[in-house]
Order: sequence, then structure tokens, then C-alpha cells
Amino acid sequence: MAMEIHLFVPTFRVEECLQEIRECLEKGWTGLGFKTGAFEQAWKDYTGVSHAHFVNSCTAGLHLAVHILKKRLEWNDGDEIITTPITFVSTNHVIVYENLKPVFADVDQYLCLDPVDVEKKLSEKTRAVMFVGLAGNTGQYDKIVDICRQNGLALILDAAHMSGTRLRGQHIGKEADATVFSFHAVKNLPTADGGMVCFSSAEDDELARKLTWLGINKDTYSRTVGGGAYKWMYEVEHVGFKYHGNSIMAAIGLVQLKYLDQGNAYRRQLADWYTSALTGHANIQIVPVAPDCEPSRHLFQVLVDNRDELILALNENGVYPGVHYRDNTEYIMYQYANGTCPHAHEVSGRLLSLPLHLRMTKDDVDRVSELVIKHAGKLRRQNKK
Ligand SMILES: Cc1ncc(COP(=O)(O)O)c(C=O)c1O
Repeated sequence: MAMEIHLFVPTFRVEECLQEIRECLEKGWTGLGFKTGAFEQAWKDYTGVSHAHFVNSCTAGLHLAVHILKKRLEWNDGDEIITTPITFVSTNHVIVYENLKPVFADVDQYLCLDPVDVEKKLSEKTRAVMFVGLAGNTGQYDKIVDICRQNGLALILDAAHMSGTRLRGQHIGKEADATVFSFHAVKNLPTADGGMVCFSSAEDDELARKLTWLGINKDTYSRTVGGGAYKWMYEVEHVGFKYHGNSIMAAIGLVQLKYLDQGNAYRRQLADWYTSALTGHANIQIVPVAPDCEPSRHLFQVLVDNRDELILALNENGVYPGVHYRDNTEYIMYQYANGTCPHAHEVSGRLLSLPLHLRMTKDDVDRVSELVIKHAGKLRRQNKK
């Protein structure tokens, strides 16, 4: 049988990563500080964001964003954040962590929040909008930014898929009150786990640095570097969390960042090959990229009528696609909102992410595309009988 083609296979520059990690081991510093500071600076230089704090996951960063904005803007328990049902559950769980209510708005043709439905879902209790750049797409983000400004709402950007995404030539991340990236094992900038929370306000960033280390007001690195009495002394000002990133992950991240643009360019090439092969087939709808967006292309998504059967047919041929994501209002946790987002509900049963990673070749894309064309068509005809 031909080689298996998997959805995600991360690429690491092994020798370079080992060299960066070796520096941590030789110095005897694998924790917070040292490489985490270097990675934060490199991320600011790359994206142009004013503040960047390296955390142990995007989920942790999103939670921190909601927590800090709630505190600073004095939101009450039960206040609402408008969010999307087509996302990984992290996006919505972090709202619940803070005793706030996720109010779901529908998605548009880009599978991102639909500004028209967001406006319909505004209420007296709305405090913020959580936008997810699904697959690295910016969707109608500009309109969401405008809605937030016009209505005095905070904006959080879940940029888990958006490392390297540019809108009109500018890296995404400067418009929101907080933008959070993921460096999870299979993201465009894979480490093993990690994330970057980027606040627009210096005070939010400063508070985040304390809260990711249990609310302690000095990190161990600054207490260790240099000498002097009372280095050991710290104050605990808040009930914080254990959310900070570590130097081993940051060491890998520093290397991966050097190759992010090159990798994303190749992802766009793979997506272009898919698009050429799959365009013009009535049974296969390609999820479009928004105008002016240079996407990270974390995913290549299509909509098909026989998604579940098609997955089985692809699996039988050694091809393993994925689904991003099931409509969150179908989960027990968020069932209260079921029926409020009809487009999300409809696409949830038809969405498919085709394999997309840097080890794939044009031949792989052609093989997957041929199988999709063959089985999407065949099974649809069978269904019609
Ligand atoms: C849209 C979205 N948001 C948040 C996350 C959470 O990222 P992490 O695994 O870094 O916590 C993910 C990860 O899959 C995601 O896809």
C-alpha cells in the first residue's frame, strides 16, 4: 500500500533545537527566565506586538486574558462574552472558568464569527467578543474590531492557528485587548506545549507576569541573577496560577520561529495545489480565505455532504484527515445554546480538514485530492439512490 498520509506531522530542526536546549542544560536553567525572555523578545520583533508573555499553553493564555480583563474592567459574574461555536473547547471553557457566560454567534462563509449575527447577539450584559481566526483565516475580523469599538466591548483574539497570519501585510495581534497564540505540538510553530499572550496594555502585561507565577511579585530568575541581600524575599499580591512557560519550550520556539514564514509559504503552496485539484467539483466546497489575508494555513478545510463516509473511505486508503470542529453547542456543556447558530450547526456535519504539513509533496496532495473527488462523488451518488 502507498505511504500513509496523516493530518499533521510537525517538523523540527533537530540539531538546532538540541543546540538551544543544550545551552539551557549547560547553564542549569530550564525554567522561567533565560530562554523564555529571549523568545518573548523574538516574538515581539516578529509580530510587532507591544507585549508578549510566554505561557505553558494557549488555553492558559486565554484564561489569563479573560481573568485580567474581567478584573480591570470590573465585569460581574454572569456577564456575557460573544464567541464562536466552531472552535476547540478551550476558547469557550476559559469564559466559564471566570463565571462568565459564552453567548454563541453564528459563523460566516470563512467559518469565523459573522459580524451580522454578533450584532444580533449583543445584550446589556455583553462585555467582550472572543474571535477565533480559524485555520489562520482573518474572516471578517475588521468588522468585529469595529463592533467592539462602537459598543465599548473588549476584544480577545484566539490566534491559536494564526502564527504568521498577516492582514494587509501586517502580522495579526495588535488590534485586540489580548491576542493569544498556541505553540502546541501540531500548530504552525510547534514546540511541545506553549502559548504567547499578548496584551495591548502594559499594566495587563505586568499583572499577567505576576499571575502566571502564582501571584508572586518577583520571578526566580530575577531573584537569582546578580547578588545582594533580600533576594529571597518576595511578596504575594494575588491568587495566581502556575501558567508560565519554561526555557526548554522557549528554546525550541526560538528555532521554530526562524522557519515559520518559510513553512507557512509552503503550506500556502500545498493549499493552492489542493484548490486547483478540487475546484469545479460540485460535491466539494472549499472554505475560502478572506480578502487581504495572508493566512498561516494551519488547516485546509472543505465541506462535503458525506463527511463521515468519506473519512472512512480515505482511511481505507491510508489517508487520515481531521475535523475542526464540531459545533460546540452540540456538547452537553454548551447545549443551552443549541439551535442558536444554524449555519454552524449545518457545517459541523460537513466539515473536513485535509492533511496539511511540511513533509507533504505535490504528489501527496494529488493523491488525497483524487481520493476525495472519487469518494465524495461516488458516495453522494449512492446516497441519492
Ligand atoms: C482554536 C483553538 N484555541 C485554543 C486552543 C488551545 O491551545 P493549547 O493547546 O495551546 O492550549 C487550540 C488548540 O488546539 C485551538 O485550536
